[in-house]
Amino acid sequence: MKVLGIAGSPRRGGNTDILLAEFLKGAAGKGADVKTIRLNSLKITPCEHCDTCFKEGKCRIQDDMQKIYDELEQTDVIVLVSPVQFMGPTASLKAMIDRCQCLWARKYVLRVSPLNTERKRKAFFISVSGARIKGMFEPSLAIVKTWCRVLDIEYAGELLISGIDGKGAILRHPDALQKAYESGQKLAEG
Ligand SMILES: Cc1cc2nc3c(=O)[nH]c(=O)nc-3n(C[C@H](O)[C@H](O)[C@H](O)COP(=O)(O)O)c2cc1C
Repeated sequence: MKVLGIAGSPRRGGNTDILLAEFLKGAAGKGADVKTIRLNSLKITPCEHCDTCFKEGKCRIQDDMQKIYDELEQTDVIVLVSPVQFMGPTASLKAMIDRCQCLWARKYVLRVSPLNTERKRKAFFISVSGARIKGMFEPSLAIVKTWCRVLDIEYAGELLISGIDGKGAILRHPDALQKAYESGQKLAEG
């Protein structure tokens, strides 16, 4: 069982990084092989809508996204992680998602599977927001669920915590870390 955490926050060691680490600790405790990709450490050019992917289902842009395509092929569980920024996911997570347009093209233009079918993939979403405002996570949820639908990944749930702003404030939350840990355990159990 391979579990890939995709960290979308620009703040290293921030609140979502902490939750992701707990999730992966839970998954590793169940024997999963865990890995983290920090999007902010990578170069991911935004999709250029060149439609080159309509021909072969591959993106012509040679940057770090190529590594992520490989990782997605080899992963059973994907944990997408991002704080809310201006009501949505971070720019780096959105760039990664948009670059999956070539996987969309495989499915809807070329009529093949977006990813290999050797694995039955699941995804989990973790997010935090500074404010406590109703509907704060809705835009991110819509984007992440759409990504899952397009890539034929089962959406397996989310952990959404509001009212968390300062770096490390999540450490004072009564049960968020425990919930992240338990979610990691659950997803790693299949
Ligand atoms: C550019 C930017 C935009 C933000 N936009 C929102 C927002 O729309 N709503 C909100 O509740 N918090 C917003 N926040 C606050 C973050 O969601 C919050 O600080 C979060 O705890 C950061 O998580 P991190 O430490 O994992 O990066 C924003 C923060 C930044 C830097």
